Amino acid sequence: MLDNDSDSDIKFHMSDLGVTTHSRQDKVTIYVNGLAVPASSGGNVHAALQAAGFQILRRAGLEPRGIFCGMGVCYDCLITVNGRPGQRACMTPVHDQMEIQLDVD
Ligand code: FES
Repeated sequence: MLDNDSDSDIKFHMSDLGVTTHSRQDKVTIYVNGLAVPASSGGNVHAALQAAGFQILRRAGLEPRGIFCGMGVCYDCLITVNGRPGQRACMTPVHDQMEIQLDVD
């Protein structure tokens, strides 16, 4: 919970804003194009891929695409998650044993 300055009449809590918090203490394993990659539950797939060194997530024609906005707006980070194509890496939470398919060579 977060309170504003006690001198202010405005008080709010993170839950009032729809903001959730995550614990990033649980180490899990995700699979990226069949390769086991360590990740933290509570984080997003984008962070796990970046930490593992995956910069290019797919190609549009010959142009490489990766993370651009990082907040779900640009759709440059589309990947396949557990067989479901068109998922945004920056908006997808990490789950243990999830399978990520990147459309790269
Ligand atoms: S990086 Fe823009 S939607 Fe994911």
